[in-house]
Amino acid sequence: MRIRPRRLRNGETLRKMVRETRIDVSSLIYPLFVKEGKGVMEEIPTMPGQYRYSADTMGRKLEELLKAGVSAVMFFGIPDHKDEVGSGAYAEDGVIQKALARAKKDYPETYLITDVCMCEYTSHGHCGVLSGREVDNDETLKLLANTALSHAQAGADMVAPSDMMDGRVAAVRSLLDARGYCNTPIMSYAVKYASAFYGPFREAAGSAPAFGDRKSYQMDYHNSREGMKEALLDIEEGADIIMVKPATAYLDMVARIKERVHVPVAAYSVSGEYAMIKAGARLGYIDEEKIICETAACAFRAGCDVYLTYYAEEIAGYIREGKIG
Ligand code: PBG
Repeated sequence: MRIRPRRLRNGETLRKMVRETRIDVSSLIYPLFVKEGKGVMEEIPTMPGQYRYSADTMGRKLEELLKAGVSAVMFFGIPDHKDEVGSGAYAEDGVIQKALARAKKDYPETYLITDVCMCEYTSHGHCGVLSGREVDNDETLKLLANTALSHAQAGADMVAPSDMMDGRVAAVRSLLDARGYCNTPIMSYAVKYASAFYGPFREAAGSAPAFGDRKSYQMDYHNSREGMKEALLDIEEGADIIMVKPATAYLDMVARIKERVHVPVAAYSVSGEYAMIKAGARLGYIDEEKIICETAACAFRAGCDVYLTYYAEEIAGYIREGKIG
């Protein structure tokens, strides 16, 4: 036999030499829940090992992450009060705005990204304002833009709209530009599917919709070309990074989009993915460490440049130990 694929699989040194996917800790983003209040550090029941922090306790986690080499976080806010128009999302003294100011001051090395959405702040749990029982797209745009601006003003390095309203990237871009934040990048949750994989997050953030579902704004998971349409539209509107979400069950979209676009592609391994691995491992059915490594490496193999994961710190450790990367 002249051609024997197994020759290059002989021994760890050779396997690593010819490895096609390299993973670097600088590609990781850790999602962090910040709750209103003081002294809060509550474990999230649906996401064991993950916590809700208040602005005064989140530093412990930011420090731990920095020590592990993870210097980018995505903030999610859990406010005390919710109302019809989600005013906590764009309040100057909102939970995220306060956390940003504090993190900027105490942890200037940490790169601060914010999730820009209404669902954690609205009393009805939808990602925008309602008109009857419908989410009013165009009215919501103004509030999203205000939210992004208030984040930038409070110290966000990057904003990430996740609401799936049409035209939100353009709305956010033009307000940021008009107010002097033309260099604040936008990572758009462009290819975001209506997914049951967000279940544990909604428990964590108390953001489940009070009625109906998100299918009138998030995408139908049967669709692939529509995801491309969303990605291309958001790039035209000024998105700097395009995200696919969830990750593991949607790696075909990561691969397809990577081929077509010329901006970095992010993949978000969401709460349900984390919860499934955690649960399987706790039951002793799977090897947590190996599954984490494989899941992450495969997302990069599919083509993502940036990976958002609740396992960021663990992955950083495995990279350091040479277990992946
Ligand atoms: C806000 C938002 C959600 C997630 C990220 N941003 C929830 C949702 O769309 O219902 C999910 C993240 C996760 O499940 O880890 N819209």
